[in-house]
Amino acid sequence: MTIKVLALCGSTRRDSLNRKLLEVAARGALDEDGEVTFISLADYQLPFYDGDFEQEYGVPEQVRELQGLLAECNALLIASPEYNGGYTALLKNAIDWISRPRKGGEPGVLLFAEKAAAVVSASPGPMGGIRSMLGMRSVLEKLGAMVIPQGFSLGAAHRAFAEDGNLVDGKAGTEVRSVGASLIRVARQLSRQ
Ligand SMILES: Cc1cc2nc3c(=O)[nH]c(=O)nc-3n(C[C@H](O)[C@H](O)[C@H](O)COP(=O)(O)O)c2cc1C
Repeated sequence: MTIKVLALCGSTRRDSLNRKLLEVAARGALDEDGEVTFISLADYQLPFYDGDFEQEYGVPEQVRELQGLLAECNALLIASPEYNGGYTALLKNAIDWISRPRKGGEPGVLLFAEKAAAVVSASPGPMGGIRSMLGMRSVLEKLGAMVIPQGFSLGAAHRAFAEDGNLVDGKAGTEVRSVGASLIRVARQLSRQ
C-alpha cells in the first residue's frame, strides 16, 4: 500500500526556511516509497476562526478542501515556524478550521485521529524552532494524531541550505530525511492494524 503524506508549512513566505526544511524531510518519505503532496496555505485564504462567522456563513469551501485532503492522506508532515516562542497563527487557524464538523456532520478532529504525524521546524536562531515544534506536537497529540518521536529543529537555518536545497551539514540532512522516512514506516504499520 502506498502511504500518502500531506506536507504542510506554517509559513507562506516566498523564501520560507521551513518550507525548505519540509522538502528535505519529504525526500526521506520518498526514499521509503511514500507519496507526498505539498500544499501551501497561501492557496487557502481562510478567515480567522470565529464561532459567529461559522454559524452565519458555515464552514468555508477552502476548509472543506483541506478536510478532503486530510481525509485522503495517511500521514501528516508539518514544518512549524516559530513566532514569539510558539507556532504561527496561520497554521493553528488552519488546524482549528479543519477540526470543525465535516459536511456530513462527522467531527473534523477525527481526520487527525490515529494518523501518523511528524513535525520539523527551522529558524535563524540558535535553537531553531524547538518551542514551536514542541507546541505543535502537543496540539496534534490532543487531536489524537500519532506523533512520531522523531523531529528536527534546525538552528541558523538562514545559513543551512545549499543551492540544491539540501542541508550543508550532511549529518543534519540525513537526520531530517530520517524524520520523513520514519513517518512512512509508522504510517505503514498503522495502516496494517
Ligand atoms: C513575529 C515574529 C516572531 C518571531 N519569533 C521568533 C522566536 O520566538 N523564535 C525564533 O527562533 N524565531 C523567531 N522569529 C524568526 C523566524 O523564525 C524567522 O522569521 C523564520 O524565518 C520564519 O520562518 P520561515 O522562514 O519559514 O518564514 C520570529 C519572526 C517573526 C516575524
